[in-house]
Amino acid sequence: MSDDRTSNDSELQPRTRALLNALDRAWGAGDVSALDSVLAANFMRSGRKHHQDREQIKASILDMRRAFPDLEMTVLRVVESADEVAVHWNSTGTLSDEYLGLPATGRQYSVTGATFSRFEGDLVVSETVVYDRRGQYSSLGVPLSGARSDEEVGVAPTIGVDVLRSMHRKVVTGVTVVAVNAEGEPRGLAVNAFSSVSFDPPLVLVCVQKTSSTYSRLLSSPFFSVNVLAADQVAVARVFATKQDRKFDLVPWHTGEYGTPLIDGASAAMEVELQDTLHAQTHTIFIGRVRAVAIAETPALIYTDGAFFDGRQLAEAVEANA
Ligand SMILES: Cc1cc2nc3c(=O)[nH]c(=O)nc-3n(C[C@H](O)[C@H](O)[C@H](O)COP(=O)(O)O)c2cc1C
Repeated sequence: MSDDRTSNDSELQPRTRALLNALDRAWGAGDVSALDSVLAANFMRSGRKHHQDREQIKASILDMRRAFPDLEMTVLRVVESADEVAVHWNSTGTLSDEYLGLPATGRQYSVTGATFSRFEGDLVVSETVVYDRRGQYSSLGVPLSGARSDEEVGVAPTIGVDVLRSMHRKVVTGVTVVAVNAEGEPRGLAVNAFSSVSFDPPLVLVCVQKTSSTYSRLLSSPFFSVNVLAADQVAVARVFATKQDRKFDLVPWHTGEYGTPLIDGASAAMEVELQDTLHAQTHTIFIGRVRAVAIAETPALIYTDGAFFDGRQLAEAVEANA
């Protein structure tokens, strides 16, 4: 647009300068009352799912500043047109208090987005915001994956849990214990939802229920271990399938190079650096980069049809004669 002006241009309109100043005071210092002089009383912000009025915006800024006390918003570029201004911004902060159900993980986030504000006179009456929901923001564990409820997508009625369970019983897996060092205390759970993602880079994933007591520790730990249990470790699998405290008191273990708890006698074990999380309603998929691997000769424990099997006694499948 020919009449566009950018923030490098000292000729920004006074109303734009007032808006930038108020945004800086609100986001940067928590002085949300600064917004009263630039947002109209009937102001409305349109988001992906929700609309927010002026008071709701102020409350959500304060809530973000509570959770991210070092919140910083940097204006990257400003473009003006006749009755609109577009602000391209970057926001960073450290998750230091509970936010959207997430524990204070101490993780950094950095989001880049743009806000389009429409003026009537000198006041902003409406605003649309777009930002990279999938970027580093999701590594905080913020539920952003877009996994929508059945209601929203209008799919057919839910498939019965029993049918699903019967289907899943057909799947043959190993059994792993996924574990973390939670501020000095080893914590873990039995997981068969483990998969290799890629070899180069060496990525793996595990899928963990949000109700697991290990869940918040997994979210807040930079590393986790995946211990592939050996055929003679059914008792270990049973311990880690319970919710009791101090599970690691019941099994021999040692600490790995990256500080994670490794179970002695496992068939294989790896230490994994958390890279990303993908939220799927009741569960979260943790994706990580393998940093260390140990492999033993012992065959693995097998899980299928709701029971444990001895990986040493597998018989090779024979092709039937045609
Ligand atoms: C063979 C087996 C596989 C399991 N796989 C998973 C899994 O993939 N993800 C999960 O969240 N829970 C899984 N569980 C259930 C958890 O291990 C169980 O809920 C455990 O009590 C959680 O412990 P926590 O709440 O102390 O973390 C599995 C259990 C068994 C026996």
